[in-house]
Amino acid sequence: MKRCLLSIWALIWVSTAFALEYPGTNNRPILSEEEASRYTIENYLSGWEPEEIEIPDQPHYVVSEGQSIQAVVNEAIQSGSSAFRTYIKIEPGHYMETVYIKGDVPLTIYGDPDRPEDVHIMAILSAQTSVADYQITVNEDGVNYQEGDPAWELYKSCAIKEEAIGIECSAVFWVQSNDFQLQGVTIHNGATEAQALAIKTSGDKIHLMNNNFMSIQDTVGLGIDEGENEKAERVLIHMCYIEGELDYVIGGASAVFNMVTFNTVASVEKEQYVIFMPDTAPGRTYGFLVINSNITGDASYLQSNEIRLARSWDKGVTSPLDYVAGESPNGQLVIRDSNIENVINGTAPYTIAGASKRPFSTDIKPDRDLDDNTHNRLWEYNNRGIGA
Ligand SMILES: *[C@@H]1O[C@H](CO)[C@@H](O)[C@H](O)[C@H]1NC(C)=O
Ligand SMILES: *[C@@H]1O[C@H](CO)[C@@H](O)[C@H](O)[C@H]1NC(C)=O
Repeated sequence: MKRCLLSIWALIWVSTAFALEYPGTNNRPILSEEEASRYTIENYLSGWEPEEIEIPDQPHYVVSEGQSIQAVVNEAIQSGSSAFRTYIKIEPGHYMETVYIKGDVPLTIYGDPDRPEDVHIMAILSAQTSVADYQITVNEDGVNYQEGDPAWELYKSCAIKEEAIGIECSAVFWVQSNDFQLQGVTIHNGATEAQALAIKTSGDKIHLMNNNFMSIQDTVGLGIDEGENEKAERVLIHMCYIEGELDYVIGGASAVFNMVTFNTVASVEKEQYVIFMPDTAPGRTYGFLVINSNITGDASYLQSNEIRLARSWDKGVTSPLDYVAGESPNGQLVIRDSNIENVINGTAPYTIAGASKRPFSTDIKPDRDLDDNTHNRLWEYNNRGIGA
């Protein structure tokens, strides 16, 4: 008994002994307590205090299996008001469709808060999907998106593209609306050949709670529309499950991931495996905050040490020489107070930037400037677990 206790203590000691301390290494920088003190939920959400998502006794609308969520969303936006919240309940079932939300009516869409897997919203669309296939998949016979609908502009912006639709138009669930709440649903993009967003948001004060988001590449995209980096795009992702394999959490929003599970799953052979790829605007101090969360992988990734925590997405920059500090996007991310399973490449958890291929670089000088855009802005603090 005593021996057994001793070895348990030895195990705990071993697993914490590996966690790096401030200032970390040139491959894996770690914040000091003082440096970390500015990376709080409050600072990332800068003045927005998300209210609890309420589930009303009587929602304004109910969608049942066989009906179109998009049709109900359109009606809710057309007959709703920006002055009060409109509630849409989705009954358990499979919904093969895309859902585009654009308008100034604050919407709450919810399934079963305790069983998000029961409401399954799915489409199969990737960045490489041709415009012709896109039109058939999301708008067969012109039924789901019609001129005059609140979502028409979003659909049209994709339907007029040439050849492939691109990342921006691959989303199953597309929110271009502020004060949006989503709870208790699963959103799934089944495409495997290229980037395929399950959810894409480009609004402010977006609250996602208790949902599952599943895809392979670019599962969750927060604040990824062109030229919108200057406006507020605050997002809270609370108690969600996010699954993917490459760059599966992306975007330029200020987003807090609190109590979220990030699960890397093996699907198709890729050259590398990366979880976060923020493209934060250089002047935006707060990009992604991962806190009280769990970074893990499926059986084929546990013990592999192949996964990178993050890389910057230097969106629009085509070579390392074209990266301009202070002008180009420079992903900002802090992972803190979280559990990291034995899946991460501990010697080099960050890798070359997306788009520009700029090598990862950091600063471990004592007086470092955490906002310095000549380096990466990817940091960790107080993580635990074998991968920490
Ligand atoms: C993290 O997720 C893994 C895999 O589901 C699980 O075994 C582990 O207990 C989780 N850890 C924490 C701290 O939630
Ligand atoms: C970890 O990263 C280093 C540096 O890029 C690389 O040489 C090594 O092969 C990686 N380890 C694994 C298990 O992928």
